Amino acid sequence: VRTSRTLPTAAVVPAAGRGERLGPGAPKALRQVGGEPLLVHAVRGLWRSGAVDLVVVAAPPGTASDVANLLAEAVPGVEARVVEGAAARQQSVAAALAALDSDTDVVLVHDAARAFTPPDVVRRVVQAVRAGAPAVVPVVPVTDTIKQVGDDDAVQATVDRTRLRAVQTPQGFRRDVLERAHREHAAAATDDAALVEALGEKVAVVDGSDEAFKVTRPLDLVLAEALLRSRAD
Ligand code: CTP
Ligand code: MG
Repeated sequence: VRTSRTLPTAAVVPAAGRGERLGPGAPKALRQVGGEPLLVHAVRGLWRSGAVDLVVVAAPPGTASDVANLLAEAVPGVEARVVEGAAARQQSVAAALAALDSDTDVVLVHDAARAFTPPDVVRRVVQAVRAGAPAVVPVVPVTDTIKQVGDDDAVQATVDRTRLRAVQTPQGFRRDVLERAHREHAAAATDDAALVEALGEKVAVVDGSDEAFKVTRPLDLVLAEALLRSRAD
């Protein structure tokens, strides 16, 4: 539920990456699936969850005003702000964090590339933070067998899969905890929860979803098109 009694929840959406693994073309967040950019799908999903009061997008450099117009048109009623992202994901997140209102107390960080994340995942994450967790990540079990390989291209070990989880977004945080993590642990990390772990704060998990997959490689676009068609039926 969008909040009136509690303080606002904002979602920060890093969308400034180039999408190099997807191959040549527009920045990934602006690539179209089902006739609309990935970023539109991502913001619409956040907004439709009803659990977010403001979306702050870190857009590819030079696209901020176009992206603001695009979102206003494609997601009616959305409260959105657009800032320019930067060369590394973490800096893009930091740029968006700087655009939050002072009274925001819960912050989600959600990759534009996880454009088809079901709204119930968003709600689960927000609820867990509102219930007292300083940081929350949605996870799914790892289905492949994972092996560690040495420099000699030989297998060193098979990792016990039962305790492994693949981590998705949106990741949810108490705003003060996330800001402290970004201030004190500027070293490169591939997600925001890792910065909070470095603070020694507990990171809780909730169920993610297969549909929250990250569009990364060309085959993911095929899956994304098929998923949209199946939702339309
Ligand atoms: N991102 C960002 N700023 C960057 C790099 C990434 O805002 N400098 C965003 C991407 O737009 C994406 C999310 O972070 O929504 C996750 O990153 P990833 O999937 O790696 O996207 P890209 O960096 O665009 O892809 P690639 O690594 O293949 O170039
Ligand atoms: Mg990247």
